[in-house]
Amino acid sequence: MLNQKTIEIIKSTVPVLEKHGETITTRFYQLMFGNHPELLNIFNHANQKQGRQQKALAGTVYAAAMYIDNLEAILPVVKQIAHKHRSLGIKPEHYPIVGKHLLLAIKDVLGEAATDEIIDAWGQAYAVIADAFISVEAEMYDEAANKQGGWDGFRNFVVDRKVVESDVITSFYLMPKDNRGIADFIPGQYISIKLEIVGEKYTHIRQYSLSDAPGKDYYRISVKREAGTVNPDGMVSNYLHDGVNVGDVLKVSAPAGDFVLDTEKNTPVVLLSGGVGLTPMMSMLKTVVEIQPERSVTFVHAAANGNVHALRGEVEDLSELENVTSYFYYDSPTEEDRRNNRFDVEGYVTREWLKEKLSIKDADFYFCGPVPFMKTVNRSLLELGVKDGRIHFEFFGPKGNLEE
Ligand SMILES: Cc1cc2nc3c(=O)[nH]c(=O)nc-3n(C[C@H](O)[C@H](O)[C@H](O)COP(=O)(O)OP(=O)(O)OC[C@H]3O[C@@H](n4cnc5c(N)ncnc54)[C@H](O)[C@@H]3O)c2cc1C
Ligand code: HEM
Repeated sequence: MLNQKTIEIIKSTVPVLEKHGETITTRFYQLMFGNHPELLNIFNHANQKQGRQQKALAGTVYAAAMYIDNLEAILPVVKQIAHKHRSLGIKPEHYPIVGKHLLLAIKDVLGEAATDEIIDAWGQAYAVIADAFISVEAEMYDEAANKQGGWDGFRNFVVDRKVVESDVITSFYLMPKDNRGIADFIPGQYISIKLEIVGEKYTHIRQYSLSDAPGKDYYRISVKREAGTVNPDGMVSNYLHDGVNVGDVLKVSAPAGDFVLDTEKNTPVVLLSGGVGLTPMMSMLKTVVEIQPERSVTFVHAAANGNVHALRGEVEDLSELENVTSYFYYDSPTEEDRRNNRFDVEGYVTREWLKEKLSIKDADFYFCGPVPFMKTVNRSLLELGVKDGRIHFEFFGPKGNLEE
């Protein structure tokens, strides 16, 4: 337990942290990777270069500082991060390393303003926050390892099939190498894949949402090739497309994540996706069809055009069912798309269209896609009066802020 004085010091330093938050976390990463380069096997280098991870960590540190005497209030945030930590293999022994370098960075950036008293208070606060993460993660490790078909850490999976779904998206069907069963998952969850790439000094870990319904003897992921124009090509996605073939073995974590379809509910469900953000939606759509055939589900997918539109056939087949409606949005349709009427709406999803076409009042909304797409959908739903608790979304990267 922290004493009142320590709590006051922590809370009074929040504005300072807000001012210097990202500078502190940037410095923190420099110091930590300098002393512990082995951690570069776990962290995503591209997120570091773009500052995305720095922002995510800084945001969480502010929140934790604000709620240091009531961490229960940020438990949902802790859980969401803990899912990712568990899928990456973050262990209790990693926490003191982060704590030590965070304090060093605070001292470094704030200089004399960071008195011994402040540093000591932050040391104590970090220990409390770290304990909260460690205990939530311990439960998650336990559950992942002990459920039927579950496992700890990374397990070898063989690529059983590789299916080209569009010009940019390819699916991989993964079966466990040991031929034993695999853990069930909740639609919307993801796995982490750890790759050793020839010529690369470090391992690279990335998350991929499961794109088929649970209950199969394989996991399916559908991966977009991230081709850089100004920036370098995406490391892992390109390697999966070009360097990983049927029969190859991938290291896979047990499924994780809290962006999940609530199948206890019977409310209409609306699944909105942009680009490769359709993967968790496919799993949700297929699950509703399989286990809730009475539940109304609307699938809205936005793509540039038919050439990059993945899994179209699967959605079209399911749209034959009475409870399923689908709409395809293309912002740059090709001549062939036009000739063959391959899309329903040209352009981008708008609030007016959502209002006109969807059952706004009682539906649950799930969405995922590029950040501008997510911002538009989120803002539109809020403006149309959809309550927070019925809006669910996933970021394909460190969590950002949709209201900025
Ligand atoms: C929960 C979750 C679920 C996901 N599900 C899916 C899914 O189902 N399908 C899918 O395809 N993806 C999914 N992703 C995204 C996926 O994890 C990877 O981020 C994606 O495949 C890109 O990885 P990469 O290694 O190819 O690219 P990275 O090498 O990580 O690069 C990412 C981006 O950064 C740019 N970049 C690289 N280096 C630099 C630099 N030095 N400076 C500036 N920019 C740079 C690249 O051009 C690229 O656009 C998901 C992510 C999360 C968090
Ligand atoms: C209390 C301490 C910690 C806090 C507050 C914290 C916070 C976060 C946050 C906010 C994210 C982004 C989650 C998301 O939205 O995707 C994240 C991801 C991550 N964390 Fe932590 N974390 C802590 C401890 C650790 C430790 C001890 C390690 C290991 C040394 C670690 C490694 C990672 C990695 C590798 C990622 C994913 C990074 C990426 O994709 O670039 N974290 N953490």
